[in-house]
Amino acid sequence: MIEDIEKAGREFDSALAAASTARELDALRVHYFGRKGGLIPALFAQLKDVPKAQKKDVGDALNKLRDRIESALQEKSAHAAAAEATRREARETLDVTLPARLPRLGHLHPVTIVRRQMEEIFLEMGYSIDPGPEIESDWYNFEALNFIPEHPARDMQDTFFVDVDQLLLRTHTSNVQIRSMEKIKPPVKVLSPGRVYRRDEITMRKSPMFHQAEGLLVDRGIHIGHLRATLEIFIRRIFGPGLAMRMRPSYFPFTEPSAEVDMSCVFCKGAGCGTCSRTGWMEILGCGMVHPQVLRNVGIDPDEWSGFAFGLGLDRMAMIKFDIPNIRTLFENDLRVLEQF
Ligand code: PHE
Repeated sequence: MIEDIEKAGREFDSALAAASTARELDALRVHYFGRKGGLIPALFAQLKDVPKAQKKDVGDALNKLRDRIESALQEKSAHAAAAEATRREARETLDVTLPARLPRLGHLHPVTIVRRQMEEIFLEMGYSIDPGPEIESDWYNFEALNFIPEHPARDMQDTFFVDVDQLLLRTHTSNVQIRSMEKIKPPVKVLSPGRVYRRDEITMRKSPMFHQAEGLLVDRGIHIGHLRATLEIFIRRIFGPGLAMRMRPSYFPFTEPSAEVDMSCVFCKGAGCGTCSRTGWMEILGCGMVHPQVLRNVGIDPDEWSGFAFGLGLDRMAMIKFDIPNIRTLFENDLRVLEQF
């Protein structure tokens, strides 16, 4: 039996020398250790027939042979795997000239573009940004803004009321004026862009949902000159440096005095064209000095503090800036249109 073991050892040495690939080495492993017919298990099986006196020597020799074959196979397999990896690396080249597969880029919506431009301008002027809630109570949307319950000015803003808790969809972003002044002690500087809702009929210029941005500034000694300068800077940065601006007296319950602001028509530069109905002007926003009663409603002393507010339609701004005649174009989400911006 010892002879058999030695013979197996010699055979293994030459077989190992002849094997070089991972596949050949694997075949060797099966030949020696395979569960069915493997040489080593077969030799171990013969051990029971060996006379007692020799059992220990034979067993030792067999164990040694098994360990030697095992570690030799393991070592050579590791070498073979490493060599194979090196060969593969050499074979596989990376073509860096291949054009990259770029992700498809989306487009910002025109309303998002003008909103971000506006936010940037007012952030530079030290305003913070707070869109405020779209679902609102009568108090914040109307009453605290000096619209008493039967005030006829409420008729201008046909409203979506929600039956529960007397809530409504805000008709303007002016609700955030009240919320801001409740939250922040003056000085207050807030820009509030967001969605608003009115039960309007749908026309070229009107949609039941649209976007406004509200500005509010409250501090000591604020007068209408501050309002005018702020709006002039804003209009010229958004629409063009040469534009003229004018204020016309108007009425809002929450500002006094109140004004509508026109800028010279961006299409004809004031000469008069079809878009501006030959007037040379485009109405762009409403504004005024914060009404003393509104300040009192939020616990701010109007003898110490004063402020201005303004509100404008972001959709209208986008329509003017990108020359889009129909507001519905903004909400149909036709990619052929949106991809132009
Ligand atoms: N909230 C007014 C509107 O929707 C606009 C406005 C805002 C007017 C702030 C004055 C001051 O018509």
